[in-house]
Amino acid sequence: MVFIDACFKRRTPYTPVWFMRQAGRYLSEYKEVRKQAGDFLSLCKNPKLASEVTLQPVEILNVDAAILFSDILVVPLEMGMDLGFFAGEGPKFSSPIRDAKDLTQLSEDAHTRLNYVYDTISLTRQNLAKDKALIGFCGAPWTLATYMIEGEGSKTYAKSKKILYQNPQFLHNILEKITQNLKLYLESQIKAGVDAVMVFDSWASALEESAYLEFGWKYCKEIADYIKVKYSHIPVILFPKGISGFLDKIDGNFDVFGVDWSTPLALAKEKLGAKYTLQGNLEPCRIYDKEMMLKGTKEILEIMQGSAHIFNLGHGMLPDLPRENAIALVEFIHNYS
Ligand code: CP3
Repeated sequence: MVFIDACFKRRTPYTPVWFMRQAGRYLSEYKEVRKQAGDFLSLCKNPKLASEVTLQPVEILNVDAAILFSDILVVPLEMGMDLGFFAGEGPKFSSPIRDAKDLTQLSEDAHTRLNYVYDTISLTRQNLAKDKALIGFCGAPWTLATYMIEGEGSKTYAKSKKILYQNPQFLHNILEKITQNLKLYLESQIKAGVDAVMVFDSWASALEESAYLEFGWKYCKEIADYIKVKYSHIPVILFPKGISGFLDKIDGNFDVFGVDWSTPLALAKEKLGAKYTLQGNLEPCRIYDKEMMLKGTKEILEIMQGSAHIFNLGHGMLPDLPRENAIALVEFIHNYS
């Protein structure tokens, strides 16, 4: 698989490409299946339909990898938290973590209740072309903790950061419990058939450098190391979003570093390109305009020429991006590189 070769810095005939959030509302086919499922969580819990939307972008865009269709929040859900998705508002937990008693009630074996994810994986792997990779994923402990503490998406992360500064040990206890769940969850995804795993630390940028290294990156590295020691043939991708100010401090036992769109790619290459394959980092909104999309793409391919690279966006696809441009983008990368 071209994607897996690139993860391990082996030579590839062209630059592999896939997009974060490549399955989603910008595809009418997705909206159709989602309607059939009823709502978003029912879609995640329905292996047949979840597998169908996992495969859609591979067929429509010809990307080199599929990413499991699910959500990072199914782990807190199966740790015992009540989760709802509300139109226009995003995810909400009705009883966020407030104190040690709330944390004690959460389980450490969420992975035993996530069979719908493993069934989606095995069904998808059966139907996916042999030369395309299937990526499994989870949210990073810090990013998941913000949802579990705030109860929803947040602009300030004030509740989570209040705990971080007033009671750091309590935050560590929360992060340790989440980490334990995630190690076993990714391991189960590997046993079900994923070819690579990715950890999304979407809200890394909410923390100052010292806090991120202690409460965020430390746990990402711990998960990566757990997987690499047991499954060295499975590439591990880490994506801490918005930390370009301290790329010097990034190290660990993993294979691919996901570069977000706010990080200059040449800087990431200088700091991390010798050690890791870089994945990224087109600003997603460039896809609104074909000319700007191709201009940004050429710049990225030129910077990464001769260096291990997986093309991706610098964050997820947006619901109203024009699909024709996304299709043209994949074709361009395959031909140009
Ligand atoms: O990338 C993919 O195509 C695979 C599927 C995937 C989803 N969510 C599907 C989804 C992945 C990898 C995620 C990860 C995820 N989920 C993250 C980390 C990545 C990132 O974007 O930074 C986060 C923070 C979440 C939490 C989450 N899930 C939010 C904030 C929302 C609401 C935002 C929105 O777009 O409405 C979701 C819902 C969600 N997850 C949707 C999809 C396709 C939209 C649901 C729908 O309305 O159909």
